[in-house]
Amino acid sequence: MNLEHLFTIRRMSKNLMEDIFDLASSIEEKPDSFAEKCKGKILAALFFEPSTRTRLSFESAMLRLGGQILGFSSAKVSSSSKGESIADTFRMLNHYAHIAVIRHYIEGIGEIAKEFATIPMISGGTGTQEHPTQALLDLYTIRKELGKVDDITIGIMGDLLYGRTIPSLLFGLAKYDNVKVHLISPPALHIRKNVKLRLEENGLAFRVTENHKEVIDELDVLYVTRLQKERFPDPTDYERLKGAYQIRKSDLRKAKDSMIILHPLPRVSEIPFELDELKYAKYFDQAKNGVWVRMALILKYLGVD
Ligand code: NCD
Repeated sequence: MNLEHLFTIRRMSKNLMEDIFDLASSIEEKPDSFAEKCKGKILAALFFEPSTRTRLSFESAMLRLGGQILGFSSAKVSSSSKGESIADTFRMLNHYAHIAVIRHYIEGIGEIAKEFATIPMISGGTGTQEHPTQALLDLYTIRKELGKVDDITIGIMGDLLYGRTIPSLLFGLAKYDNVKVHLISPPALHIRKNVKLRLEENGLAFRVTENHKEVIDELDVLYVTRLQKERFPDPTDYERLKGAYQIRKSDLRKAKDSMIILHPLPRVSEIPFELDELKYAKYFDQAKNGVWVRMALILKYLGVD
């Protein structure tokens, strides 16, 4: 049976997530044996907001599976700039591709897909709401690097208010057992109330702190994000808060030997280049894992064995 659409990780079961990780891991081990799996299939990549990694890794994933790709990388070059509704775009797309990845700023995009898309649609990031495939590759990386996602302590730092990777990661973590979360941000950038309520419903406990140095010695994972400059309604708030968070080499003195630093990228100044050479730095491996996870997602959502 084909899976439907993927706009929130909340609706994905832990079993399905683990299935996707197992498949991604088999692909990572022997990518060549998957090279023909999507022959004759087309992936449409519809990016109404900027993207580097998500779009290119989805495209790379489809090409590595032997499929083809089409799409656009900016709302300006699509007919939405002429006033076309997204519902009409979806209606037409059903005949042009077999699966699509879409990055859009409309919060209700998943509902529109449900009504108008007959092909599986996967969110490549929805406004400030969610980024479910990023969370899957984040969790895959944690599982691969630490051997588990259960029983870990993670610090999630930066722009918890506007960063869409964060709600998805938290909803994903909520499915695992005994995960301890430290949310690290200035009060102005704390998680939204609705995200908080959902975490409480899902039984994911978290603590709040403003300073990563206070909790660094407890962490198995330090997940860093950039301030989402483009989403600040008042640019002076961004100016005030930017640079408030930067990890320095000396901050890591008390870190566990096995701690890993992740970042969905792009980074701005929160992780200086001098950290890249440290054993903790796993953010480029994380980006590479995106290809394996997205190959697995394409196979699962197309229902290809
Ligand atoms: C993130 C995004 O677009 O939400 N990037 C990504 O997909 N890896 C993070 C960001 O833009 O800060």
